[in-house]
Amino acid sequence: MSEESTFLRACRRQPTDYTPVWLMRQAGRYMKEYRAIRQKYSFLAMCKTPDVAAEVTLQPVEKLGVDAAIIFSDILVPLEPMGIDLEYAQGEGPVIHNPVRTAADIDKLRVITPEEDVPFVLAAVRKVRQALDGKVPLIGFAGAPFTLASYMIEGGHSRNFIRTKQLMYRHPGDWHRLMEKLADVTLRYLNAQIEAGAQAVQMFDSWVGCLNPDDYAAFVLPYSRRVFQGLQGSAPAIHFGTISSTLLEHMREAGGDVIGVDWRIDLGTAWQRIGYDRAVQGNLDPVALFSPLASVRKLARKILESAGNRPGHIFNLGHGILPETPAENVIALVDTVHELSQR
Ligand code: CP3
Repeated sequence: MSEESTFLRACRRQPTDYTPVWLMRQAGRYMKEYRAIRQKYSFLAMCKTPDVAAEVTLQPVEKLGVDAAIIFSDILVPLEPMGIDLEYAQGEGPVIHNPVRTAADIDKLRVITPEEDVPFVLAAVRKVRQALDGKVPLIGFAGAPFTLASYMIEGGHSRNFIRTKQLMYRHPGDWHRLMEKLADVTLRYLNAQIEAGAQAVQMFDSWVGCLNPDDYAAFVLPYSRRVFQGLQGSAPAIHFGTISSTLLEHMREAGGDVIGVDWRIDLGTAWQRIGYDRAVQGNLDPVALFSPLASVRKLARKILESAGNRPGHIFNLGHGILPETPAENVIALVDTVHELSQR
C-alpha cells in the first residue's frame, strides 16, 4: 500500500529497492496531453476545476512512471483569496495587479480558511487520491512565506528583488507582519491538503537563494520553521529552494524531512552539509534534459553515485521541467534512474 511506497520510504530514510524519482513541474507544457487540455482552459481555470486538475495530475504518473504524483495547482493560488489580483499573462508568467507595498496593504491581506477559500484544491486532492488507489503517493504543496512575499511585493517575478529587500531593510516591522500572515496561510493550506489526503507536502522557496545567510536567518527562517513545526499528521515534508547551496544548513534548521538540492553543488557534498539525519531531493539540471540521451544517463549515474546508495535520496531535477523539454528524454530519465539504481 501507499505507506509502503518507495517514495515515502525514501522520505523517511528507509531502504528501498531502487531510488524513487519524480520531477517538479512533471505536469506541464512539455507534454502534448497537457497542451491539449490547456487549449480549452486558462491555467487558473484548470487549477479551479477539480476534474481537470485531477486529470492533469495523473498524466505524468501514467506517461512517465514516476514514483509520486504532485497535485496540479500553483503556489500563487492561495494569494487570490488573500486579496491579491492575480493574472497569468501570456508568455509573461504571473502578474499581480495590486502589489503589496505599504503597511496598509499588509493589514488588508486576509488569512485564508482553505476549506472555504480554496475548496477546489482540496476536492482535487481527494479525487486524485481516489483515482490513484494507492498506486503512488500524492504530494501536496505550497509556496514558502519568502517566495510568496516576493511575488506579492514585486508584482511578479524579479531579477534583483529590490522592493522585497527594501521592505525587509527599511520597514522590518512591516516585513515581519507580512511574513507572519504568510506563514499562517502556508501552514493552514498545507494542513488542509494533508487532511484532504496529501501523503507528503513540499514547501517551495524558489527564490530564497537571493538572500545572504544572515538575512535568511533573521528574516525568513523563523517563518519557514513555524510552518514545518505546525504540520499535522505524519506526512513527510520537503523543503525546496534554488541557488540555495549557501543556505543548506539554515534550511535544514528551519525544517523538513527532505531538503531540496539544486544542480549548482555536488549532491554528496550537499548531503554531508545538510546532515545524514535528513533525506535529500534533487539535483539534476533541468537543462540536462536537452542533451543527447547518453549524456542524460551519464549525469543521472553521477548523481546516483554521489548519493552513495545511502537510504533517503529522492531523484528529481534541481528545479522544474522547462516547457521546451523533449518529452522522450523525460521518459528516458525516469527509466534510467530506475534501472541504474536497482539494488
Ligand atoms: O509540479 C507540478 O507538476 C505541479 C504543478 C505546479 C505548477 N506550479 C504548475 C504551473 C507547481 C508545483 C508549481 C509551483 C510554482 N509556481 C513555483 C515553485 C516551483 C518553481 O518553479 O520554482 C513557482 C515559482 C510558481 C509560479 C509560477 N507559476 C510561474 C513562475 C509560472 C510561469 C512560468 C511558466 O512556466 O509559465 C507559473 C505558471 C504555471 N504553474 C504553469 C504550470 C503548469 C504554466 C501555465 C500554463 O500552462 O501556461
